[in-house]
Amino acid sequence: MVLLEHIRHRYDRAAVLNLPHLSIAQGEHHLVLGRSGSGKTTLLHILAGLLRPSEGRAVVAGEELGALRGDALDRFRGRHIGIVFQQMHLLPTLTVEQNLLLAPYMAGLPQDVERAREVLNSLDVREKAGSYPHELSVGQRQRVAIARAVMNRPRLLLADEPTSSLDDLRAEQVLGLLRERAAAHEATLVVATHDARIAGAFNHRLDLDDAPPTVSADASRATEANDVLGQPEDQPER
Ligand SMILES: Nc1ncnc2c1ncn2[C@@H]1O[C@H](COP(=O)(O)OP(=O)(O)O)[C@@H](O)[C@H]1O
Ligand SMILES: [Mg+2]
Repeated sequence: MVLLEHIRHRYDRAAVLNLPHLSIAQGEHHLVLGRSGSGKTTLLHILAGLLRPSEGRAVVAGEELGALRGDALDRFRGRHIGIVFQQMHLLPTLTVEQNLLLAPYMAGLPQDVERAREVLNSLDVREKAGSYPHELSVGQRQRVAIARAVMNRPRLLLADEPTSSLDDLRAEQVLGLLRERAAAHEATLVVATHDARIAGAFNHRLDLDDAPPTVSADASRATEANDVLGQPEDQPER
């Protein structure tokens, strides 16, 4: 599970995030909404332990992130947190399979080629294992980025604006894949977006445009456990 308490962050003088409390049960899927500049990436970076908040505490998978330093923090992140960055960050000089194997390597885990192939297979890009990122379509790169993020079976899967550069169909597919892969690993999923098309796709939402940010959950909806995998129960209006 994820717990944030009294989080405030400022890069220089102006506060960019003020979040008194956020608690996410293991396996829940949450959407972080807000206009550009509202602090979504900042929040994701705090959850990933990539950024220390100016104030407050963050607990992920039972660990207080603020208590971890240097290598220990990097190892913890590598083992328990999967991140799909906006810019995907695939290494251009490595093949798809090597990009995936970098995840266990960085986390100090054994190289597991079988696991890499299984993950690529689950994301329908198995045949691209030996290709380089520039040889893939945007959609395939996105799948590989998701594959790398779930490679180490993370407890927390984070995705930053995963759909903003995609057309409606691809956006829906990527969201479906994230939900499906998170569910397969019983991972908590947190997706940040300003993409109004997907605002209705998750039943837990955190809206950073409100001050203080508001948390909402649709009790009328099925819980994630009952959702059809990969089929957000409410498709956005087209
Ligand atoms: N490294 C940084 N240094 C200074 N200001 C930053 C930095 N990163 C983000 N900001 C500012 O913090 C605010 C929130 O940014 P961000 O978290 O990226 O928002 P979002 O992802 O919602 O667009 C913005 O005003 C942005 O300009
Ligand atoms: Mg952002």
